[in-house]
Amino acid sequence: MADLRFDGRVVIVTGAGAGIGRTYALLFASRGAKVVVNDLGGGRHGDGSSSKAADNVVDEIRRTGGIAVPNYNSVTDGEQLVKSALDNFGRIDILVNNAGILRDKSFAKLSDQDWDLVHQVHLKGSFKTTQAAFPHMKKQGFGRIIMTASNSGLYGNFGQANYSAAKLALVGLAKTIAIEGAKSNVFCNVIVPTAASRLTEDILPPDIFNELKPEFIAPVVAYLCHESCPENGSMIEAAAGWAGKCTIVRSNGALLRSSMNDGVTIEKVKENWGKITDMTDAKSLRAIEEATGALIESLDAIRDPENQEAQANDELFEF
Ligand code: NAI
Repeated sequence: MADLRFDGRVVIVTGAGAGIGRTYALLFASRGAKVVVNDLGGGRHGDGSSSKAADNVVDEIRRTGGIAVPNYNSVTDGEQLVKSALDNFGRIDILVNNAGILRDKSFAKLSDQDWDLVHQVHLKGSFKTTQAAFPHMKKQGFGRIIMTASNSGLYGNFGQANYSAAKLALVGLAKTIAIEGAKSNVFCNVIVPTAASRLTEDILPPDIFNELKPEFIAPVVAYLCHESCPENGSMIEAAAGWAGKCTIVRSNGALLRSSMNDGVTIEKVKENWGKITDMTDAKSLRAIEEATGALIESLDAIRDPENQEAQANDELFEF
């Protein structure tokens, strides 16, 4: 297969001064993209700032003949990042929202500040940066946006209530942006990475840590951002040289009333708990319309003529 190139494309990678973001910036630049290397250069917990992190990566790219500029703003000043792309390169095609911090505490000890700072960087930062880039992408009829979630968001993780909440929120944000951008060829997907970095050095066991190179994730993100990739609104997990799609599934469930006149009781819920939670034939729904369709099907089943007493159509929606 011919190399997948990004010539002519302008890419912003947030938090690209270290860790996974650095490998994204290097890969995009090596394939012809002009890259805005954004990094606030602060500490792991969101403290301090320095231009060094972004500068180092820009130097690294330039040394190998690539094109890049640094940007030192916080992602919460998203319009400054996009301005940087427009001022230096005249357009913005691809945005990888990657910047992140951790303020891990057990839930009982979590302070407002721990909550707010983590939400500011991950959720507000992705919102602000994406909202600044989105109109340019829509206008030019091309855009690729990545949000960065985490298995902590999908499954929870001890000591990461603030981080989990912000990370799963990004999935909802991405799915709605994917819907709103689709007709303008602006796609938004979520990466769920696991990689060795300063964020995970004391979380992952050392033998696993050494095998989790961020370089194994960057090609997955780069492909998601390529014009030939049709994926939109998806969550892709990648780590250690493996990638797969994640989705939310629901069970077939159980009907808790047998006619329109029937009520739902706590006892019926208990009786049916096995069926409600049986994931054997679980389905992944692709869109909110499918969820509404499934709801109407349940109502139709309850309305079955055998059990039905005359019901006005509009009453159905009181369910
Ligand atoms: P890292 O700490 O090595 O890199 C994050 C970079 O973001 C740092 O260089 C930091 O200076 C920058 N940054 C922090 N706040 C910023 C702000 N307000 N504005 C601009 N830049 C800022 O972390 P790593 O591991 O590379 O993480 C990258 C992303 O992947 C994060 O969103 C993280 O939550 C996510 N992630 C990482 C996992 C892993 O296994 N490393 C697992 C799941 C998610």
